[in-house]
Amino acid sequence: MKKPLIAAALAACAGSAFAQQINVICSVQAEWCSLLSTVYARSTGVKVNMSLKGSGEALAQLAAEKENPKTDVWFGGTGDPHLQAAEQGLTLEYKSPSLPQLHEWAQQQAKQSGYKTVGIYSGPLGFGYNPELLAKKKLAVPKAWADLLKPQYKGDIQVANPASSGTAYTMIATLVQLMGEEKAFDYLKGLHKNVGQYTRSGTAPIKAVARGETAVSISFVHDGPQEKMAGFPVETVTPQEGTGAEIGSMSIIKGARNLDAAKKFYEFALTASAQELAAAAKQYQLPSNKGAKVDPNVPDFKKIKLISYDYAKYGASSERKRLISRWEKEVNSLPR
Ligand code: F6P
Repeated sequence: MKKPLIAAALAACAGSAFAQQINVICSVQAEWCSLLSTVYARSTGVKVNMSLKGSGEALAQLAAEKENPKTDVWFGGTGDPHLQAAEQGLTLEYKSPSLPQLHEWAQQQAKQSGYKTVGIYSGPLGFGYNPELLAKKKLAVPKAWADLLKPQYKGDIQVANPASSGTAYTMIATLVQLMGEEKAFDYLKGLHKNVGQYTRSGTAPIKAVARGETAVSISFVHDGPQEKMAGFPVETVTPQEGTGAEIGSMSIIKGARNLDAAKKFYEFALTASAQELAAAAKQYQLPSNKGAKVDPNVPDFKKIKLISYDYAKYGASSERKRLISRWEKEVNSLPR
């Protein structure tokens, strides 16, 4: 996506009257949401009303709107809450003819939800760190989950709250799969002592790292390059013991008032060219369309020790609710 095209899209939309509109909850970063809606509006004449919400918050809103849905499409956010929405009957079964164009992991996400969601991108979980701040505080770069428990990081780690953030829920599910549940909760209690702040949004911690407000974050590593390009001192690393990856997903809402428009937007979002808009907006998740160009800033999955994440198990409503409430009760309630 070249800059002039973006400018042309913005110009074309300014002041024009739209015959149709569509309501989208967008759970990726604002730059991607707005570029996507602008390009879509320009090429179809359909106005996109975007509202930005973290993965957990989006799910809560859709559950609250169940009897009277105001949303047509939920774009992006970690896959677990999309699977939970499917299970709760909040999203519509739709078998896209574009599925064969997608990577196996994205098709698998569709299959296991009964075609009520689909994978649109993937990205690994890791740590963000500010090398300048670490050097100033004489702290080493954390390379392993175990490192984050060291007392010297006290108050210097940020991670999001799993009730609102899919990133943070991915962390809990990853640790449970890596260590077993009891050990993972012991770990989370230890980590709690070092966490300076639990944020609402999953991307807030790496932004805080970039701005020197905290030294370390637990974040998706694809959220690092954008901050670095903006000139901030931020690097990322994935933990030695292994880590999980999200399957960012998209779903059509059951009872969508603009169903035809929703399906068209969904098809558009699965195309290679629409998925390339992510990198144009400096977002570096791995696209799910096999034909989409992979930007060099996208993390190289082959170099990362990934666990075999059980998306079906950890996307199940009961499991997600149980783990988050256990975290609230046994971890978040502890003094720091
Ligand atoms: O948009 C960046 C991103 O890391 C996505 O890859 C991910 O799906 C989303 O944020 C998760 O956001 P949150 O943790 O706030 O739900």
